[in-house]
Amino acid sequence: MRAGARGRGGRQVGAGRRRRGNRRLGDYRAVRPDRERPGHRLGHQRGRLSSLPPGRGLLRRDRQLRNPPAKGAAVNVDITDARRSFRKNKAVDGVDLQLGPGVFGLLGPNGAGKTSLLRMLATVLPPSSGEIRLLDRDPRGAAARREIRRRLGYLPQNLGYYPSFTVVEFIEYFALLKEMPSAAVPKAVATAVERVDLGVKAKAKLRTLSGGMLRRVGIAQAIVNDPDLLLLDEPTAGLDPEQRVQFRSLMRSLGERATVIVSTHLVEDVGAACGEVALMSDGKIVFRGTPAELTARGEGHGVGDAPLERGYSAVLSAARLSGAQSGAVSS
Ligand SMILES: Nc1ncnc2c1ncn2[C@@H]1O[C@H](COP(=O)(O)OP(=O)(O)O)[C@@H](O)[C@H]1O
Ligand SMILES: [Mg+2]
Repeated sequence: MRAGARGRGGRQVGAGRRRRGNRRLGDYRAVRPDRERPGHRLGHQRGRLSSLPPGRGLLRRDRQLRNPPAKGAAVNVDITDARRSFRKNKAVDGVDLQLGPGVFGLLGPNGAGKTSLLRMLATVLPPSSGEIRLLDRDPRGAAARREIRRRLGYLPQNLGYYPSFTVVEFIEYFALLKEMPSAAVPKAVATAVERVDLGVKAKAKLRTLSGGMLRRVGIAQAIVNDPDLLLLDEPTAGLDPEQRVQFRSLMRSLGERATVIVSTHLVEDVGAACGEVALMSDGKIVFRGTPAELTARGEGHGVGDAPLERGYSAVLSAARLSGAQSGAVSS
């Protein structure tokens, strides 16, 4: 994967199951292109709203807001007390998050709620409650949702694909569904293919590709519109070590301008690529900080082979012990 080149265009398509009510909506939908962007953005700098008066909601916000908006700045993700239940199962159980550009790692064990949170951010899963603003817009409005989707890139955890499509056809299809101007599509597709290092397979049919290659095709469709908000659900699954190194470099490059959220349960993926990480457990964010801060949590008592892994396991077991108390955001 190449960090240097840059794709341009729109957004995503759908495969996946469609169910009704509070079930899956189908992971991908047609979206559209647009090049408008907020004038200013936030970095992932830390900051606290220490002047806030006491109160549970405010306190929780105080703990979670590490990048309070600078004057006139826009945030790409701004969610408050987002919740999503599937019957009695609280998949996402009160998450606050405010993010500007940068690479943000979402860690947590299977079932923690990472995919559900990302699906909410991708506008394919409405929250049961809470406030969600994406790219300065409220996704509850149809026009705003459409605008958000034009500027979003989303790699679902399980990306469906059409076996008889070639790599280029597949990515082009997504670009067109994202309503990119057709004149811009060929170059955007070529750039995306190049960025995931699939040039030699550009004309190969998807059915002939390995799992790792298909994952890279999935990454390519997510970045073909040069999104302002990029959501990647387990993007490194199936990639070999060399490809993972390339992927991290691509993330760093994309994160210079866009907000990139990468979910994974592979702790080492976030260490190198992410400026900041959050750890989810039982639907809640139980830690938010830099990879170095997470590593520090594991000193002396974490279980694991690598320092970051020890931090991860230390925070996770503390969260589980305390019953993952609501709003238990640390550091
Ligand atoms: N569409 C769904 N229908 C019912 N339960 C779901 C659905 N999606 C997720 N869940 C449940 O929500 C919880 C969180 O799942 P998920 O968001 O996939 O977590 P993660 O991505 O961290 O593994 C799990 O208990 C899972 O079984
Ligand atoms: Mg998941």
